Amino acid sequence: MASTKFLTLNNGEKMPVIGIGTWQSSDEEIETAIDVALSAGYRHIDTAPVYGNEKAIGRVLKRWLDAGKVKREDLYIVTKLPPIANRPHEVEPTIKQSLADLQLDYVDMYLVHTPFTLFINPDGSFQFDDEGRVKVDKSTDHVAVWAEMEKLVASGLAKSIGVSNFSKEQVARLLKNCKIRPANNQIEHHVYLQQRDLVDFCKAENVAITAYSPLGSKGIAKFNAAAGVQRDLPDLMDIPEVKQIAEAHKKTPAQVLLRWIIDTGVVAIPKSTNESRLKQNLDVFDFELSAEEVAKLCALDKNIRICDFSFFRGVEQHPEFTFKNQFTD
Ligand code: A2P
Repeated sequence: MASTKFLTLNNGEKMPVIGIGTWQSSDEEIETAIDVALSAGYRHIDTAPVYGNEKAIGRVLKRWLDAGKVKREDLYIVTKLPPIANRPHEVEPTIKQSLADLQLDYVDMYLVHTPFTLFINPDGSFQFDDEGRVKVDKSTDHVAVWAEMEKLVASGLAKSIGVSNFSKEQVARLLKNCKIRPANNQIEHHVYLQQRDLVDFCKAENVAITAYSPLGSKGIAKFNAAAGVQRDLPDLMDIPEVKQIAEAHKKTPAQVLLRWIIDTGVVAIPKSTNESRLKQNLDVFDFELSAEEVAKLCALDKNIRICDFSFFRGVEQHPEFTFKNQFTD
């Protein structure tokens, strides 16, 4: 069974509405997970250099492509320009490194990973100030970076280009200053953080939304703990309304959370490295939510941001950082 539902982007390209998220997966986990995912019918894989697993993903893709088990044109591979390389002159060398690691000639979607930019040391580690806060590069120029992103389409290194974690104002600025409109904004989006204003704006502007952390990204707890951020995270799969709707359809809470996202015309990239959960997350096309159920889920919004980047202590000093809350400094 392949994930045959697609969203047509503003450039006519088609993006599968369910992809596999690969954040927080070790090399070993991800190789197995990508193998299982491709066998289960996933064709859309979301990765990024900061996840540290492009090489492992590349090895699996090469095996599948060389064996003729999948055609390149049937895959939908997304990767991102990392915050440490969010500068015009770094766009082309950085995508070329990702392509080398993924063992591909092009990606289907290349995203500017974050609106902010961070400094690193020559050994690749983050730079910190005396108080242990990440050093931010305040010279970030989205419009100049975007002009370089546009060249990737012309040179064939990326079929589509977009952004991630961009606010409405940041997307609007690009729309006013671009030759190629962003095709995608990948943002945190789930029942507890619906970001209606941003989602509606992007939809009206024909910028597709991809929802990351669609299941609440419990795994982020370890990043937070490593950075000394103490915070309880909600369990979206334990919300009574979600559980009740799941029971009514004989589906799981995760499947209800995903169906709600794709029914609103948004792409979802649930992360799993577990075979049965991977299959479950793709098996969301055989039931429908009623208008009443959709309304119930829409009413759950609590503006709870799970991925607030507080694990990058000090990131809020960047002028383009817009996720300030009680957990960021
Ligand atoms: P695992 O990899 O062990 O399946 P998100 O996509 O929002 O970041 O959430 C991913 C988290 O949710 C991971 O901890 C993942 O764990 C878990 N997860 C993924 N799919 C399911 C599912 N169908 N049911 C329960 N938990 C899931």
